[in-house]
Amino acid sequence: MVLKAELHCHIEGAASVTLVERKAAKYGADVSGFIRGGKFVWHDFTSFLHAYDQASMLFRTQEDYADLAEDYLLALSRQDCIHSEVFISTDHALSAGLDPQAYIEGLAEGMRRAKDATGIEGRLIATGLRHKGPDAVLAAAQYIVDHPHPLVTGFGMAGDERMHHPKDFAPAFDLARDAGLGITVHAGELSGWESVADALDALKPSRIGHGVRAIENPDLVKRLADEQILLECCPGSNISLGVYPDFGAHPFAELARAGVAVTLNSDDPPYFHTDLAREYEIAKTHFGYNEDMLTAVTATALKAAFVDDETRAALLARLDADKTVRAGDERFAGSVSSS
Ligand code: ADE
Ligand code: ZN
Repeated sequence: MVLKAELHCHIEGAASVTLVERKAAKYGADVSGFIRGGKFVWHDFTSFLHAYDQASMLFRTQEDYADLAEDYLLALSRQDCIHSEVFISTDHALSAGLDPQAYIEGLAEGMRRAKDATGIEGRLIATGLRHKGPDAVLAAAQYIVDHPHPLVTGFGMAGDERMHHPKDFAPAFDLARDAGLGITVHAGELSGWESVADALDALKPSRIGHGVRAIENPDLVKRLADEQILLECCPGSNISLGVYPDFGAHPFAELARAGVAVTLNSDDPPYFHTDLAREYEIAKTHFGYNEDMLTAVTATALKAAFVDDETRAALLARLDADKTVRAGDERFAGSVSSS
């Protein structure tokens, strides 16, 4: 059992089929267009986004989102996760007819309930959706800057990376950065290494969502390592969406060997038949990571988390204490088996 941290998961994409079906029953909605046989149905990135948008329309009240955040963080805690950062989208709230303030309060309430029950830390990263264009992303940034919340500590951009150029979004990111929010942006998932380089130049993030296709340019890999830009890697998502044909072709371990800070994340767990524990398991099985290496991945995530210094120190101390206990257990097991 390795303690874990997650920096990259979309809260709308974390809603389990069971929870979505419960909300559908509450609202008398038909889900047969995007859930069949207990699974979300999609076949490519665009249809994935469509299914995800449809499911999110069933979260319509503050309490629906409190339920979702609590459900997800409790599930993470059962996987030995001690810190969770989720992407939120005021655009999705608005589309469902929910006031963004009620959306954020609901999510924060769910995180508080999960923390009270398990001790798991949670933070929210506001996002704009790239395919909605620069004005919409600027509006998302403006909203969050005008309505600060203690648990909203970052700003990012998700959605279809193949649309628009990162520099079109610079005003939104400048606004968020100037307000003290941590900055992350999806790049190098659906598009190649140039997309990562352009995002770095135009938006100055400290973290990149995915970023794995930086591997296509050795100079860019060196830049990521030199500037210690953290990659929020999501291997299970990448295989599901066909970014790579199989885990053997995934560049996670190669990026790590080149000195890039890499982490493990679930992205949209039920859509990609994964969860955070499975991502750590993938690293063990396919990338040759042992428990010490996996613990180092968690430490990397905590060092780059969008939290204050006191919270970071407490999380790292928790990780350290667990490592010491596990080392003691191993020594004890060794002495028992050798006697
Ligand atoms: N929104 C939800 N999941 C996403 C992904 N994998 N890439 C871009 N935007 C997303
Ligand atoms: Zn993502």
